[in-house]
Amino acid sequence: MVDFPTLVLTVMQLLDEIAAPGTREREILERIDPDRMPRHVAIIMDGNGRWAKARSLPRVEGHRAGIRSVRETVEAAARLGFEVITLYAFSTENWKRPRHEVLTLMGLLKEYINRELNSLRDNNLRFRPIGRIDQLDSSVQRELQRAVEGTADCTGTLVQIALNYSGRQELTDVIRAGVTEGVNGTLSPDGVDEEWINNHLTTSGCPDPDLLIRTSGEQRISNFLLWQVAYAEIYFCPVLWPDFTTADLLTAVLEFQRRERRFGGLAPDGNVFTPTGEPGATS
Ligand code: FPP
Repeated sequence: MVDFPTLVLTVMQLLDEIAAPGTREREILERIDPDRMPRHVAIIMDGNGRWAKARSLPRVEGHRAGIRSVRETVEAAARLGFEVITLYAFSTENWKRPRHEVLTLMGLLKEYINRELNSLRDNNLRFRPIGRIDQLDSSVQRELQRAVEGTADCTGTLVQIALNYSGRQELTDVIRAGVTEGVNGTLSPDGVDEEWINNHLTTSGCPDPDLLIRTSGEQRISNFLLWQVAYAEIYFCPVLWPDFTTADLLTAVLEFQRRERRFGGLAPDGNVFTPTGEPGATS
């Protein structure tokens, strides 16, 4: 049995690991209820190009700067004990960008794995790419495989990176798999239920996102985890991705905790919910 002063000391040490005393992060952290943390946070990292433009830099410099935010966010997610963090790094639509930008993004991804693999492993983080990975350059696939294998035994936060990802494509693939199984006689129409679909998504085995964050002030889902975000709280953050910090992540979690998730039901007091514009307001 842990005595009370030891417990307080342990909690303080845990808080110190996430945010140093006296900082803005710490001030937000102390308002967060550790018992109501989101299990899965998904992020649409947006605004790299605008960040670079504001500094008269080439767009790719925005992506390069965005790596710092990736590192900081993954680290914070692990310390906060999220089960899953999913980052939207490259959509199937992103192939339309100039070749140089696409190649830089793929290069940055390889660089990230190269630099971070040991740290992911040391921090017990499991790496999993989601999306049409088989269509990526073989050198990228090799690095991704190295990260998957290198962290396969890790039991902490699952770090999912969406690459060559499209929610519609993912659902198309699930339907195709179903039709194939049906034609082969291994699946009947009654066999298709939400559980079957979940098991055939690239995110199979992980809980749906509780919180979806999009940076840069844009307010769209952009074909990200279309099935999985059915009940996610969506938080639009004005900060451009390269400027996104732990304090912004904590602010999003705080906002998530202010909201009431009813999954289509009623509030516990049975009252009808009337949004008043105030975050988390119920009546
Ligand atoms: C959107 O900004 C961002 C992307 C398309 C790529 C995000 C990639 C990274 C942060 C780096 C690589 C990622 C990992 C996981 C290592 P945008 O270019 O659309 O910005 P804009 O809307 O301001 O033009």
